[in-house]
Amino acid sequence: MKILVLGAGAREHALVWRLAADPDVTAVVAAPGNPGIAGQARTRPVDLTRPAEVLALARSEAVDLTVVGPEAPLELGLADVFRQEGLPIVGPGRLGAALECSKVHSKRFMARQGIPTARFAVCDTLDAALAEVAAHPFDAPLVIKADGLAAGKGVVIADTREAAEAAVRAAMVDGAFGTAGSRLVIEACLTGPEVSAFYLCDGHRAIDLSTAQDHKRIFDDDRGPNTGGMGAFSPSPLVTPDLAAFTRARVVEPVLAGMREAGEPYIGFLYVSLMLTETGPQVIEFNVRFGDPEAQVVLPRLDGPFARTLLAAAEGRLEDDALTSAPDCCVGVVLASRGYPASFDPGRAIEGLEAAGQAPGALVFHAGTRERDGQVVTAGGRVLTVVGRAPTFADAMARAYAAVDRVRFEGMQYRRDIGRKALTRVT
Ligand code: AMP
Ligand code: GLY
Repeated sequence: MKILVLGAGAREHALVWRLAADPDVTAVVAAPGNPGIAGQARTRPVDLTRPAEVLALARSEAVDLTVVGPEAPLELGLADVFRQEGLPIVGPGRLGAALECSKVHSKRFMARQGIPTARFAVCDTLDAALAEVAAHPFDAPLVIKADGLAAGKGVVIADTREAAEAAVRAAMVDGAFGTAGSRLVIEACLTGPEVSAFYLCDGHRAIDLSTAQDHKRIFDDDRGPNTGGMGAFSPSPLVTPDLAAFTRARVVEPVLAGMREAGEPYIGFLYVSLMLTETGPQVIEFNVRFGDPEAQVVLPRLDGPFARTLLAAAEGRLEDDALTSAPDCCVGVVLASRGYPASFDPGRAIEGLEAAGQAPGALVFHAGTRERDGQVVTAGGRVLTVVGRAPTFADAMARAYAAVDRVRFEGMQYRRDIGRKALTRVT
């Protein structure tokens, strides 16, 4: 099989790495890819915001399957275009993508399907939003979310009435999130640990791809601003067999049923983000693609014919237990550039990549890197994900950080506590 992987981050590097090691795969093409990906795939330039250009690439490369990394091309209808043309692709169409890309759509879908999620109101006007804030007693914070994609910045957890009003005005009057903020979801604040569960869906069935926990804040002990994710581990020790069964029955099956009823059977990865509250698990959000950095810790644990199973998903013929997850543990540490998450510091030479990749039980996935005169340099906020794999979390952490110690670039920052929650089960 020849496979096209779309995207340019560490998530896509992990996908390419896993596919390149698959005996059924003869070649991987990645577009646009990055210097790390170029070690395992042929990279081709492409503008992922132009579905016709991506289709032309898949055709000219004569690939058997296309796998989409990020959500943005899915929101633009890339998978619909491929399916209309009869080309197999892993990723939902526009309607499925709206489960991630529109919070209003996603919350209404959950309400319709009886999927447990925080109580919410949809506000189309400033007056409606302010009335919603006025009605809240502030015995607990209020959560204000921009409807559309806002680069992870569209969620405000307001502790006071003043903060909530300010958030509403910022979105609806000042346009802080652009058009993404012209409609808001205002919802109850939940508390509890967050876990993520991953599935591969073929429109009718879903198979488990294990679980993970992300670390969204920039600094140790979950302090500082939110980021795209500073590290993750897999599996999550908080996901018991009962919780997995609950998630399948109360979340995943209703998503599949709801999407079939809506006329677009859901094909692709489904990422369910859950908060484990005192009154039970609640869905915080869906993502319609793999997580980053979660893919980097989930995929190395995945055993079985990955490429064949992805094609089966794209063609609506998944079989139960096609893939299993090894019982070992993965810990992935994101190495970020100086200034991240507000900005980044490009062009810094990265040393020790080869040595890190050769450290025992370690894997190095590239994200924001670029090649300049034969030297790999920084080119993004999140630069690398370094993964340690071992039978226990303690050893996986030790392996990840031993490999991290071999990498150097000016301004490199990373968390020292990725995986610690899995050791102590403190959430
Ligand atoms: P989202 O973009 O919906 O995933 O939200 C980003 C982050 O905000 C989540 O990962 C949660 O940590 C937090 N969050 C979102 N919704 C809620 C909620 N209803 N209660 C508490 N925290 C929330
Ligand atoms: N790690 C969070 C995400 O991929 O959205």
